[in-house]
Amino acid sequence: MPKLLVIPGDGIGTEVTSVSMDLLNIVGEKSGTKFEIEEGLFGGSSIDAHGVPLTDEVREKALNSDAVLLGAVGGPKWENLEHSLKPESGLLTLRKELDAFANLRPAIVYPALVDASTLKKEIVEGVDIMVVRELTGGIYFGQPRGIETVDGQQKGLNTLHYTSSEIERVARVAFQIAEKRNKQLTSIDKSNVLESMVLWRDTVTELHQKEFSHIELEHLYVDNAAMQLIRRPKTFDVMLAGNMFGDIISDEAAQLTGSLGMLPSASVGNKGAIYEPVHGSAPDIAGQDIANPIASVLSLSMMLKYSFNMDTEADKIEQAVKNTLDKGLRTADIYQEGTKKVGCSEIGSEICSEYKNL
Ligand code: IPM
Ligand code: MG
Repeated sequence: MPKLLVIPGDGIGTEVTSVSMDLLNIVGEKSGTKFEIEEGLFGGSSIDAHGVPLTDEVREKALNSDAVLLGAVGGPKWENLEHSLKPESGLLTLRKELDAFANLRPAIVYPALVDASTLKKEIVEGVDIMVVRELTGGIYFGQPRGIETVDGQQKGLNTLHYTSSEIERVARVAFQIAEKRNKQLTSIDKSNVLESMVLWRDTVTELHQKEFSHIELEHLYVDNAAMQLIRRPKTFDVMLAGNMFGDIISDEAAQLTGSLGMLPSASVGNKGAIYEPVHGSAPDIAGQDIANPIASVLSLSMMLKYSFNMDTEADKIEQAVKNTLDKGLRTADIYQEGTKKVGCSEIGSEICSEYKNL
């Protein structure tokens, strides 16, 4: 029986996850699959209840699950806590504990939403990119780190390092994904300045020569990649980057599609997998039933595909989302004149009924 841990987290995380859970119920009924579902507190809501963003109990549950469906964490209430007690720190610990080293972030421009992008239609029409971001290494986790006092002033310190095996394993995931798509990979680095990125480029090149020479490989410095991504987004297929560059590039790719509210993600690795929207907890709009649940719904679709081999159901979810958009329903973030503005729960029920009819 597929085992799932659901941690809605904070802010709009709870609202969007509840739509996904309604949909999962229907998926279960229609496919005759019984999911074993546990719930847990995470992030700010866990801090309020237990004083820490990730309790041992929830960590254990995550390690014992096949997949974790996460909403979002964070909010102004917890912003000034000590670094290790912040909701974001709980998220990083969870990724690390599950060894979820490959973060997959698709950015797809839906035909119905082509005018929602801030870029010209002819530039973004047809964009379909998969960003593969290294998630458990790099400057996010490198030691030493901290703030210390040196010569009478404070010094903030973080460390960027990558081993060749850390680079190789995430690059392999990226090549394998490219193999199933348009067979093009763009690897992003800063090897003109940083030694760790020289190793990044060399390792990717070596793996390419050894195992994936049938894939077209392009290397770009991160600054150039950021520029090319808004200049010629359609030419990209799979983009591979380290933790911090991938964080930045994936937000940029998200904006091509018009709204961060549309983008799902999967973080896969050795001890489990996490599925979560790319967006945050959006405290400014939380509790108002106006959030866009599509990123969470599409994260559920990725979970069915990558963790449970339920490709048919995953494709159906994507289709249900497309049908709902084609009908003209929009949440506020993707609203345009001539469409119908609805709330989170209303667009959610529409996606559910579209799914039922497929
Ligand atoms: C993301 C977020 C996180 C990250 C934050 C919330 C820690 O920006 O998932 O992209 O930087 O990884
Ligand atoms: Mg980010």
